[in-house]
Amino acid sequence: MKRVFSGIQPTGILTLGNYLGAMKQWVALQETHDCFYCVVNLHAMTVMPDAEELRENTLSVAAMLVAAGLDPDKVTLFVQSDVAEHAELGWLLQCMATFGELSRMTQFKEKSREKEVITGGLFSYPALMAADILLYNTHLVPVGEDQRQHLELTRDIAQRFNNRYGGLFTLPEPFIPEVGGRIMSLDDPEKKMSKSNPNPNSYIGLLDPPDTIRQKIMRAVTDSGREIYYDPENKGAVSNLLTIYSLCSGKTIEALEKDYEGRGYGEFKKDLAEVVVECLKPIQARYNELKESGNINEILKKGAGKARAVAAPMMDKVRELMGLKV
Ligand code: TYM
Repeated sequence: MKRVFSGIQPTGILTLGNYLGAMKQWVALQETHDCFYCVVNLHAMTVMPDAEELRENTLSVAAMLVAAGLDPDKVTLFVQSDVAEHAELGWLLQCMATFGELSRMTQFKEKSREKEVITGGLFSYPALMAADILLYNTHLVPVGEDQRQHLELTRDIAQRFNNRYGGLFTLPEPFIPEVGGRIMSLDDPEKKMSKSNPNPNSYIGLLDPPDTIRQKIMRAVTDSGREIYYDPENKGAVSNLLTIYSLCSGKTIEALEKDYEGRGYGEFKKDLAEVVVECLKPIQARYNELKESGNINEILKKGAGKARAVAAPMMDKVRELMGLKV
């Protein structure tokens, strides 16, 4: 069985972008692959979060992943800091990534523009991500389009390691959905839907109540003209809404174009809102149940044990090959 690894940051709200771009694929892959999914709390440290908030967000994100359909008996679900090998390999790979490579990362450039304080961790972030992936002999990494460049760097670092110290690491492939790899913001189809956008109307939170979802969709920007068809270049806003509709309903974009021929944006958005509400309803219900039952800690503890069993021998080989064992 081929190995899958992916991670998600425990930074407050998760959005429909996270769900459609990544989590939905995570759930599908658990049937056919050996999947390791990680709540990457060490990555969240790059912005110095409040300790209590981080603890809570870590548990909430883990609960959300199970609510979205991950089966803890099928996948290994764990918290990054529970497996110390991530930080250790992260450091070693930081020492192999160049300043030039890390400086070219679009996500670093974007994030550092938004922030007053830019930590060293924010800069070297992709090396830790490479460590996450390479520790598990990963074949496939299901992510959204925004992570493609980090994946390319991971492959470069892996190759560099293999050439310098011996062929240890598997070169991972990105697994990015063709439709849904980049869900755009509701107020600006040029921007990715993101929880860090200060305007909450720009994203749908996975825990947004039905009326909030309806309001946000009715307020979403559209394009000029009244026709509803898929053309990301010229009709970015409507194409994004069609993508969301298609992924939440299971209908193809072509079928939706036909359904809405000659009908206006108003009707389309009204239906879309109901489709999104229905898609999130069971996830929200399961999430609330899980939060009350308090089983998440146990799931994560078991997951950490399973992850460590793979990461520890891998790290041991790395230490050996790099001359760290004396
Ligand atoms: P993060 O926490 O920002 O996002 C988690 C996943 O959600 C995807 N995503 C989106 N997909 C489509 N449209 C959007 N608008 C959208 N917004 C977010 C992201 O692409 C991602 O797949 N660096 C990673 C976490 C990470 C990781 C890893 C991922 C750490 N180590 C190892 C894979 C493998 C991140 O910050 O994702």
